[in-house]
Amino acid sequence: MHERPIDVEHVDHRYVIAIDGPAAAGKTTVARRLADRIGALLFDTGALYRAVALIALQTGVAPTDAIGLAAIARSAAVEVRPPSCRDGRLYDVWLDGRDITWDLRAPEVGAIVSEVAEHREVREALLPLQRKIASGAAVVMVGRDIGTVVVPDAGLKIYLDASPEERARRRFREAALRGGTETLAEVARETMHRDQIDRSREAAPLRAAPDAERVFTDNLEVDDVVAIVERLARDRHIAFAESRSRS
Ligand code: DC
Repeated sequence: MHERPIDVEHVDHRYVIAIDGPAAAGKTTVARRLADRIGALLFDTGALYRAVALIALQTGVAPTDAIGLAAIARSAAVEVRPPSCRDGRLYDVWLDGRDITWDLRAPEVGAIVSEVAEHREVREALLPLQRKIASGAAVVMVGRDIGTVVVPDAGLKIYLDASPEERARRRFREAALRGGTETLAEVARETMHRDQIDRSREAAPLRAAPDAERVFTDNLEVDDVVAIVERLARDRHIAFAESRSRS
């Protein structure tokens, strides 16, 4: 992640769609389908924080060690790419020539990633790469602070939310499909704990940007949410592919 700082003031971000919201609100699933439909890239910034957490676990850096974690964030060569196979992944993440996509979803990573993401030093170290990606082609960027800190002038900002119960159910179903053994109650506890840290931290807490469009997804199918966001994107001329009919 060796990147030159980008002057965010002078880069055109009208083709960036920022999707923020709490854990398991459906952000990445919606973002993947939306990006495919409108001809944009998908970049899930949570993968960067998870990669730092994974490397910290592998190298014995404590989740309290802000300086050590920031050094990892600055030096790790993490790449996020379109999905290379159809095993349920929405994108690939590679580190040093190794596919770490599923390693990032391990419960041990989930258990410390919010603490890792709390440190201002880590967040600052990850900013240049995120802004570099935002300064390129059309991109749907997913995270917690995209509309508030990373790309405050994004062409479209969405805040995706759902009730805590619904989010826990979704995360539980996802994990169970991959052979996860945690119970619904454990998943609910962990999701709420991470949200609490993400919302209450000092550096770039989880918030809706004042001009974000809020979408509450409890009673909506994924395709309904995609349709709402796609309409907003097309209204703002942030769409490059023709609409294809849904199947
Ligand atoms: O979306 P996720 O579950 O993969 O995110 C992992 C953690 O990273 C989560 O605790 C919040 C944090 N995160 C963040 O603080 N800022 C972002 N832009 C993206 C993720």
